[in-house]
Amino acid sequence: MHDQYRHDVLIIGSGAAGLSLALKLAEFADVAVLSKGPLTEGATLYAQGGVSAVLDNSDSIESHLQDTLAVGAGLCDPDVVRFVVENGFKSIQWLINQGVNFTRATSAEGGTPYHLHKEGGHSHRRIIHAADATGRAIESTLESQAHAHPRIAIFEYHTAIDLITSAKIGGTHNHCLGAYVLNQKADEISVFRARTVVLASGGAGKVYLYTSNPDICTGDGIAMAWRAGCRIANMEFVQFHPTCLYHPKAKSYLISEALRGEGAKLLLTNGDAFMQRFDARVELAPRDIVARAIDHEMKRTGDSCVFLDISQKPKDYLISHFPTIYQRCLEFGIDISREPIPVVPAAHYTCGGVVNDKNGRTDLPGLYAIGEVSCSGLHGANRMASNSLLECVVYAHAAYTDIRQHMDTYQMPGELPDWDESRVTDSDEEVVVSHNWDEIRRYMWDYVGIVRTNKRLQRAQHRTRLLQAEIADYYGNFRITNDLIELRNLVIVAGLIIESALLRKESRGLHYTLDYPLADTSKPARNTILQKNLS
Ligand code: FAD
Ligand code: SIN
Repeated sequence: MHDQYRHDVLIIGSGAAGLSLALKLAEFADVAVLSKGPLTEGATLYAQGGVSAVLDNSDSIESHLQDTLAVGAGLCDPDVVRFVVENGFKSIQWLINQGVNFTRATSAEGGTPYHLHKEGGHSHRRIIHAADATGRAIESTLESQAHAHPRIAIFEYHTAIDLITSAKIGGTHNHCLGAYVLNQKADEISVFRARTVVLASGGAGKVYLYTSNPDICTGDGIAMAWRAGCRIANMEFVQFHPTCLYHPKAKSYLISEALRGEGAKLLLTNGDAFMQRFDARVELAPRDIVARAIDHEMKRTGDSCVFLDISQKPKDYLISHFPTIYQRCLEFGIDISREPIPVVPAAHYTCGGVVNDKNGRTDLPGLYAIGEVSCSGLHGANRMASNSLLECVVYAHAAYTDIRQHMDTYQMPGELPDWDESRVTDSDEEVVVSHNWDEIRRYMWDYVGIVRTNKRLQRAQHRTRLLQAEIADYYGNFRITNDLIELRNLVIVAGLIIESALLRKESRGLHYTLDYPLADTSKPARNTILQKNLS
């Protein structure tokens, strides 16, 4: 029998959601934080634009609420939106107190002490930021605090494979007891026991060939919760960011929407602006509209990209406001102060996920889900820019409050069954894993992208079912590796996206299908809920 780890709370994920929660819980509990790679690696690290909140006297809670509801296309939960928006100021204050160094306004700008960005769908400037590297400022601040905290145990390069539930080990009242975890460096699988487990494992952008997301975003938490019987909602709403750098070596590097907030124009190859043909808000229309407009124009003209032009702004201004983007583009030979930037849309944000309540609780007692892994009702059919980092911090606080209140009633589980390795051998065909990875990501891009049809979705579903069977067989027979864990999760997430998309017989928000090009106004908008039958 291997040693088993024991902590009051096991947090799977070390982005804005996981680290904010860990720092709060560590006031009174022993906390383990897992990350698949280095602690800071995750979507949070790459966030550019900032965090939205009502921070200016000319703005209001009501305005932030109405903007979010409008962008969410009829599917946001108004109570949840109010809850998050009302907690915006407090959450920003908490980040500032941790030491996040947000960009200050110049005296000439007046108004708030901090400079605020504007992005699509927002009717006010309300996005606080650290130049164009807000995620890095947040993540590195939280990381250094977590490392220094005596009650936070950090496990880097540790991949959660599956949740351990009492139902799985023959108990009667289902409860989450911990997780099986692969230590990648030691190549060992351990049991992590905990009174409470929190999924803070981020989104699933890697299910698409082109994505702004880092490699860790393979939807592991969504797949684990699905296998444990939790409800998964609204997976058809995958957000495509309109403007990722189009360059063979750039790996979909994001060009922040904040550039459009500062006046950048979208242009065709011939230099013509086109957004006025699609929406009166032009470049600052919500993301679904801008991404679809770009997709439409690229298909119409046959061009491989469109262009984003901010060269009308002075070079000094660009270097001070967007230093990272300026420098990164320069490395690819593009001087943004002199020429337009070639851009294309790429998968960016998973609006759907594990259903949680306002305390972060899921359907499985003892399991919470916070941040991008969850579907809280905040984003509806389309997330408004910069509302996600806010959601991470607000729900970290909500989960902390709830866990603290109930800690005494959550029991530390006794010894749990070790991972069964008796049936497995080393694979002699690792190529199967990489081949299947590539195949899923390519057909998801081609058939389940910005514009969908029933036929394309059915094609993708057929392939997914074949791959699910093949991967399950492979998983059952060969030794676990990190790639295999991710592949197994990726194919589940692909299946959930496709099934949800097929169930939605209308176009709404981010889900656009040529078979039903309009929203169904004959009945109230509904969430798409999927749940695995465990019996
Ligand atoms: P992440 O930050 O993605 O962290 C996930 C964590 O889970 C990682 O530590 C990872 O290692 C861990 N993990 C995953 N699976 C496992 C597993 N099986 N076992 C162990 N650990 C696991 N939002 C905004 O609000 N404003 C912005 O300006 C903004 N810009 C963005 C720019 C880019 C390029 C991207 C990709 C996203 C951006 N977003 C932005 C979205 C936002 O960054 C994310 O929604 C948010 O950071 C998610 O935080 P998280 O804590 O939920 O997950
Ligand atoms: C961006 O800076 O464009 C990303 C903002 C977001 O995804 O919320």
